[in-house]
Amino acid sequence: MKNIVVLVSGGGTNLQALIDAQNSGAIKGGHISCVISSKEGAYALERAKKAGIPTVVIPRKNYPDKVSYSMALLEELKKQQADLIVLAGFMTILDRCLTSEYPFKIINVHPALIPAFCGDGFYGIKVHEKVLEYGVKVSGATIHFVNEFTDAGAIILQGVVEIKNDDTPEILQKRIMEQVEWKLLPKAVSLFCQDRITIKDGKAYIDL
Ligand code: GAR
Repeated sequence: MKNIVVLVSGGGTNLQALIDAQNSGAIKGGHISCVISSKEGAYALERAKKAGIPTVVIPRKNYPDKVSYSMALLEELKKQQADLIVLAGFMTILDRCLTSEYPFKIINVHPALIPAFCGDGFYGIKVHEKVLEYGVKVSGATIHFVNEFTDAGAIILQGVVEIKNDDTPEILQKRIMEQVEWKLLPKAVSLFCQDRITIKDGKAYIDL
């Protein structure tokens, strides 16, 4: 069984989707062994506690920069013997001192169709604001591996939703979470835990 460590910063609905998938037996070959939060008081911590999953808080605000924060996180991930790290609404950019230790072992969920509406400054509700501002007709979410560049690692899964004329950022965010994120994140985690993702020339392929 692979040890899955989930990193969170906020409400934790994606963490909840992973917990629900685990409880229904949909995550094969792995189990959530720990949840680490970058924020004290994040509701995601309550969700983990209710599910009986150990939690650790490493507050981002206690560290002067991303390097020192990533070093502290790395130490904890080693201690937890993480086989897979899932960024589920984790709002902190990781330094390469951490990402280089876990090549193709860190999975992120991004609430848009990469390579559009991603990179530094595109996170949370801001992504959906930019999408509506631009006027594109579809958006969605991307599950991808994390490398040293923001939102630039190999894409594992993507899902699309249509944009409606009266969408607000909040309505669009909710539709993308319900229809894409909460389904595809557990699916990608399960595929990883069953060793069903192959990397070739830096790209990810699902073994059918
Ligand atoms: C989700 O929509 C996730 O895709 C996004 O933040 C939200 C977190 O919600 N993540 C990012 O923007 C990361 N760049 P949650 O805490 O309820 O899972």
